[in-house]
Amino acid sequence: MDLLKLNCHTGNFLYFKSFRIKYGSRRFLPQKFLGMKICCIGAGYVGGPTMAMIADKCEDIQVTVVDLNAERVDGWNSDDLPVFEPGLTEIVLRRRGKNLFFTTAVEDGIREADVIFISVNTPTKTSGVGAGKAADLRYVESCARQIAEVGGGDKIVVEKSTVPVRTAHSVQEILSSAENGHSYQVISNPEFLAEGTAMKDLEKPDRVLVGGTVTPEGRAAVDVIASIYAQWVPQERIIKTNLWSSELSKLTANAFLAQRVSSINSISALCEATGADVDEVSHAIGADSRIGPKFLKSSVGFGGSCFQKDILNLTYLCEHFGLPEIAEYWTKVVEMNDLQKKRFVTRMIDAMFNTVSEKKIAVLGYAFKKDTNDVRESPAIDVCRYLLDETAELRVYDPKVEPETILSTLGTKEGEDSVSICKDPYEACEGSHAIAVLTEWDEFNDLDFAKIHAQMKQPAFLFDGRNVLDLKALEEIGFRTYGIGKG
Ligand SMILES: NC(=O)c1ccc[n+]([C@@H]2O[C@H](COP(=O)([O-])OP(=O)(O)OC[C@H]3O[C@@H](n4cnc5c(N)ncnc54)[C@H](O)[C@@H]3O)[C@@H](O)[C@H]2O)c1
Repeated sequence: MDLLKLNCHTGNFLYFKSFRIKYGSRRFLPQKFLGMKICCIGAGYVGGPTMAMIADKCEDIQVTVVDLNAERVDGWNSDDLPVFEPGLTEIVLRRRGKNLFFTTAVEDGIREADVIFISVNTPTKTSGVGAGKAADLRYVESCARQIAEVGGGDKIVVEKSTVPVRTAHSVQEILSSAENGHSYQVISNPEFLAEGTAMKDLEKPDRVLVGGTVTPEGRAAVDVIASIYAQWVPQERIIKTNLWSSELSKLTANAFLAQRVSSINSISALCEATGADVDEVSHAIGADSRIGPKFLKSSVGFGGSCFQKDILNLTYLCEHFGLPEIAEYWTKVVEMNDLQKKRFVTRMIDAMFNTVSEKKIAVLGYAFKKDTNDVRESPAIDVCRYLLDETAELRVYDPKVEPETILSTLGTKEGEDSVSICKDPYEACEGSHAIAVLTEWDEFNDLDFAKIHAQMKQPAFLFDGRNVLDLKALEEIGFRTYGIGKG
């Protein structure tokens, strides 16, 4: 396919023709985009925020986000967006109905688009070959098939979802075998945003990665995608690679980030045994410019939909390519994370006279991190399950997570199985034997702990799974406190 001859139905695609000449000159770019239509399949935590940012930064591009989930689409079209991210609502309200649309009309979105982002979920397989490790690519494949079936002209198809290396090859095969007379270029453009800071990350990314085939057509398609980001991202932050490097870089980035958390968490166990303080150790080692200070905060464990899934996917790939030792190395990162959650609960039980049975535990925070309503793989889920196994009674409070979400992830209903959802932290703590802080919401720093302490069963225990509270001050109030990695 020659992008210079891209058969765009809008007929207004000067940008393809002028692309090679004008690339790099931001002055010309807005005109080049006039008439460009983007469709993003998947209105989730990535598709919604990412497309909102593109629509905001490129007003000449029409961005349509499509999803099969009508409830989710309705949410995006309401004032109560299905994804909570600081700064997201403002952008959506600014662009929605102008050049940003959310709809369930998947086929129409695909047909009309010149560029299609695939931003669907790629969870870990739960059955069949590779169950528990390999990525389930059925949603990505069904997108590719649908794009091929719907037709509507030549298109650039962008993998935004996190996928195993060489997925682009399968997508390209499906598209090519459609024999519908249209040409497709498959591009890898993985997303590196972190939930909770997604809008900041999207506005000022450390880098944007765009990978394509090493052919003139592939390079031209990479340039088209790169030029969209070049509207607001400095050129030096846009990295262009081949397809496989781009796909593998995303898995590798998440593996490295999770590995740092598991590494410092492993040291937290040694700190607890020796009297060292893990925050002091983090500070000391992070001051070394070769190590750096970020992602060295010890906690009850990492969560989120990606870290565990992507490492397991990486280990599966290693095994598949005959590299069992490499797989084993990365598997340890996930095992360490599981151990950290178990250690947290074991420490609670030990501290509370070797039993939490029928004791009330106030769980403060349920999201996997602050500033998101996402609970996927949240450490709070496992911690709560372990406590329920010990027949503790849980009183859970989270400022952003819906009660139904908490109850469904614990496989229970309100009033059943000793779980109740509280509307504020004071209600959760009243009459409790212990507090477990499981998400680092800022508001927990501002609580009146003297008032809380007075209303708790004595002795009152506090377990800070995020090391965010001033434990010394809490001890002065009368709490028995336990932080992560605090001897
Ligand atoms: N969540 C993150 O922080 C993050 C960060 C970087 C990358 N990623 C990756 O991005 C991808 C998407 O993640 P997410 O968190 O946005 O997932 P999500 O589950 O929040 O959203 C995916 C959406 O895709 C929709 N969908 C699935 N198949 C579809 C189809 N055939 N047609 C239309 N809609 C369809 C689902 O209904 C769902 O709403 C994953 O591969 C993930 O690994 C996620």
